[in-house]
Amino acid sequence: MTRRYGAYGGAFIPEVLAQPIKELEEMWNSLKEHQAFLSEFHAILKNYAGRPTPLTPVPSFSKAIDGPKIYLKREDLLHTGAHKLNNTLGQCLIAKRMGKKRVIAETGAGQHGVATATACAFMGLECVVYMGKKDALRQEPNVKRMKLLGAEVIAVDKGAKTLKDAINEAMRDWSKNYEGSHYCLGSALGPHPYPEMVAFFQKVIGEEVAEEMTPDVVIACIGGGSNAIGIFSSFIGKAKLIGVEGGGKSSKLGENAARFSGGKPGILHGTYTYLLQDNEGQIVETSSISAGLDYPAIGPMHADLHDQGQVEYTSATDKEVLEAFKLLSKSEGIIPALESAHALAYLVREAKKFPKETAIVVNLSGRGDKDLPELFAKGLIT
Ligand SMILES: Cc1ncc(COP(=O)(O)O)c(C=O)c1O
Repeated sequence: MTRRYGAYGGAFIPEVLAQPIKELEEMWNSLKEHQAFLSEFHAILKNYAGRPTPLTPVPSFSKAIDGPKIYLKREDLLHTGAHKLNNTLGQCLIAKRMGKKRVIAETGAGQHGVATATACAFMGLECVVYMGKKDALRQEPNVKRMKLLGAEVIAVDKGAKTLKDAINEAMRDWSKNYEGSHYCLGSALGPHPYPEMVAFFQKVIGEEVAEEMTPDVVIACIGGGSNAIGIFSSFIGKAKLIGVEGGGKSSKLGENAARFSGGKPGILHGTYTYLLQDNEGQIVETSSISAGLDYPAIGPMHADLHDQGQVEYTSATDKEVLEAFKLLSKSEGIIPALESAHALAYLVREAKKFPKETAIVVNLSGRGDKDLPELFAKGLIT
């Protein structure tokens, strides 16, 4: 039974994907409450990935922006340097149980590609990663990492040459090769069961925070929405939740190219959700400094949380993001991923409006080493 989140979600797929989606959904339904599977997953998260990740207070950053008490959930310290590994370890375990020998993935910032290549190397699976050509160039360190980990990286020279185009190619590959291949989708989007499955594997982030403290405010960046739903899910109705999108620009929508402010509901990659489209329903390309947030749709759970008013969604501009990126690096000795720097940029802009005793947790979804060559090459940092 396909799942909806309010009006959103579902499984709007071409006929060729009906069989693999059905098989995956059946396997997922049999595993999601299966104790041996869950124990194996949590043991790998602990012994291989390095969970739990710490919650770090950042008083110097807070002082620099005249803000309240700020803590970072350190997904940058997870093995491979981002939250993406939680999901790929879970999905690769499923692939093995389904008897698949090959795993297909798409990637924007390269972090999901690296995390998939890592999980495949760890579990002895073949790995193929599709990446938009523009992203492959701007996230070059991650392309090298994927290759070293044994993955084949295919640069996609179509459309905007970013994440959307990589997902198209990955889905095409899967429709031809599903008998031996699993498609490891990297965010809480796509057709059911992906949003549910990815959110399930990422909810450990919020659960760990809840074990340590009860925050007043939780902030996360949002590409497809997996790190955000992972940390938010423990705090819905209990804390103020803020999701920060890329404040992208588009030739058709001008400056207003964040999905909630510039988009409207439609279907992309098998799910009904908010997306950037023109009046004819054609997808509008995005542009963001960060490859991981450069995607025209948002996960369907976020579409529902938005309409219910459970989460406040906002955006940060490329300029604000760069400032926050530099400030966290200098004030705390932590170089954030450009994606994660969106959540920090919101705080730099808005920190003064929170009372000083407010406890804020920011999900630091990844580390920024991957972004340095491109930022130096463009002269954005010197
Ligand atoms: C470090 C990091 N954070 C956030 C994201 C955005 O993805 P999501 O919204 O699924 O967390 C990415 C995507 O590549 C990423 O690499």
